[in-house]
Amino acid sequence: MKKIIAFNWKMNPASNKEVKKLFKIVSNSDTIVFPPFVYLNTQPKLKKARLGAQNLFWENSPRQLAGRGAFTGEISALMLKNMGVKYVIIGHSERRKWQQETDWTINKKVKTALKAGLKIILCVGENYQIRKKGIKAVKSFIRAQLQKDLKKVNGPLIVAYEPIWAIGSGNFCKPKDALEIIKFIKEIIKPKTPVLYGGSVNSRNILDFLKYEEIDGVLVGGASVDKKELKLILKNIYAY
Ligand code: 13P
Repeated sequence: MKKIIAFNWKMNPASNKEVKKLFKIVSNSDTIVFPPFVYLNTQPKLKKARLGAQNLFWENSPRQLAGRGAFTGEISALMLKNMGVKYVIIGHSERRKWQQETDWTINKKVKTALKAGLKIILCVGENYQIRKKGIKAVKSFIRAQLQKDLKKVNGPLIVAYEPIWAIGSGNFCKPKDALEIIKFIKEIIKPKTPVLYGGSVNSRNILDFLKYEEIDGVLVGGASVDKKELKLILKNIYAY
């Protein structure tokens, strides 16, 4: 299977000027970029890279008349679709933590995104306390997360295994350990679902993950907003 290379820019960069430089670097690469919402309307258009959003809301239009809220500040799947966005990240651990996203809201978002025809990268992964308890505890946590997030979901998707303790810490999961969990995830989800690894991936370790057949790609955060690193990552992938 062709490897999936995805860049989650999180809340970066801070200006149009900076984002243009990043878009220029990735434009002609076979990658998926997830900039903040405000930069999704990229001009000039990306040549080969595809666009993704870091989040979405689970309703497509306001329900003011029903008195159930008009969803100030939210972005719908339809808006993303109409803008040419192809992918969406759902359930990132940073949103679970800072925006109090729950498995219930994540499940609703997955269903909405599928209905709109968006491709989903669903993020799952354990925190350090769970990892300390051992591999059995990790597996049982991830199994429960997948069961809840994908309740009554039947459509295609991509899963990203992102152990929370490895994100933004420089302390990446050993590729062999990531492989074990990724194989486990593959046993419990729909066959042929690609599973990526994310958590402190950089230009130096990226090939150590991609070399395993079962690791279908990577979701890179911090290193993908560092122009030098981003160029090195692309160079390494093309050499691969
Ligand atoms: P880092 O690569 O910065 O650890 O982030 C990983 C991530 O959260 C991608 O979604």
